[in-house]
Amino acid sequence: GKVAVLMGGASAEREVSLMSGSGVLKALLSKGVNAHAFDPSERPLDDLKREGFDRCFIALHGRFGEDGTVQGALELLGIPYTGSGVMASAISMDKVMTKRIWRFEGLSTPAWSQVFSAEQTRAAFATLGAPMIVKPAREGSSIGFTKVMSVDQCDAAYALASQHDAMVLCEQFIAGDEVTCPVLGPNDQPEAFPVIRIVAPEGNYDYQNKYFTDVTQYIVPAGLPTGEEEAIRALVSRAYQVLGCRGWARADVMIDAKTRTPYLLEINTSPGMTGHSLVPMSAKAAGISYEDLCVRLLQNTAL
Ligand code: DAL
Ligand code: MG
Repeated sequence: GKVAVLMGGASAEREVSLMSGSGVLKALLSKGVNAHAFDPSERPLDDLKREGFDRCFIALHGRFGEDGTVQGALELLGIPYTGSGVMASAISMDKVMTKRIWRFEGLSTPAWSQVFSAEQTRAAFATLGAPMIVKPAREGSSIGFTKVMSVDQCDAAYALASQHDAMVLCEQFIAGDEVTCPVLGPNDQPEAFPVIRIVAPEGNYDYQNKYFTDVTQYIVPAGLPTGEEEAIRALVSRAYQVLGCRGWARADVMIDAKTRTPYLLEINTSPGMTGHSLVPMSAKAAGISYEDLCVRLLQNTAL
């Protein structure tokens, strides 16, 4: 069969997607897969059908790639693809919708408030306290994100986040260990991979420190106190299940330093596959090479 690696796209994470996609493409080619790059922001998706592609590896991030839109188009074209379907992709792209479902299901996620103005952001700060995270509801890679320490930062934080999305979210900051955990497999049989602990300079795991510096430390095995690794794997597996995810995803979690409670921040249904990315690191710790991971994800395509 002929495989399209969907990469690039029109979102703010285009640059990240190009890095993910070129890694995936190279890996699939090295495994003898007939794979080609395909950028849906440069050509119509119908070309996939015309050119005889019979499967897609989605290496797009953010809107028009990770949010159910491309997934819906592929459903219409009848072409199987990696990762979650339309509904789970759409919900997971939206941090507010995701948190509503997790809260309803009794899974811990930091307190939050959706805001529509700078004034409401200041009101949220009065309730949630410092530090408070202000971020676009449907972005990735920390784009448009501010950690607000005092009320006078609220207006600029709202202005920045709202440049990226009309939906803006304020969230209580959980001080403690920052961890992430991939999940692979069908919805009814999720398999959580090793937890990675992220130690960024001054806790600043931002866009630069995610992709372009070498100052962030990634610790796997995470070296968490007894029982916590298993508890987090169980939590993220459940988080994946209640959202209806399939194929693969990666959930980001903060562990409260005082209570050791893990809080779910978000789930990424098309996680990064760059040289700095976390799913490949976790898979490696489980004995799975980048190339084998790509093949395994491709085998799990669904329609
Ligand atoms: N949004 C980026 C690609 C990630 O979560 O890996
Ligand atoms: Mg994300």
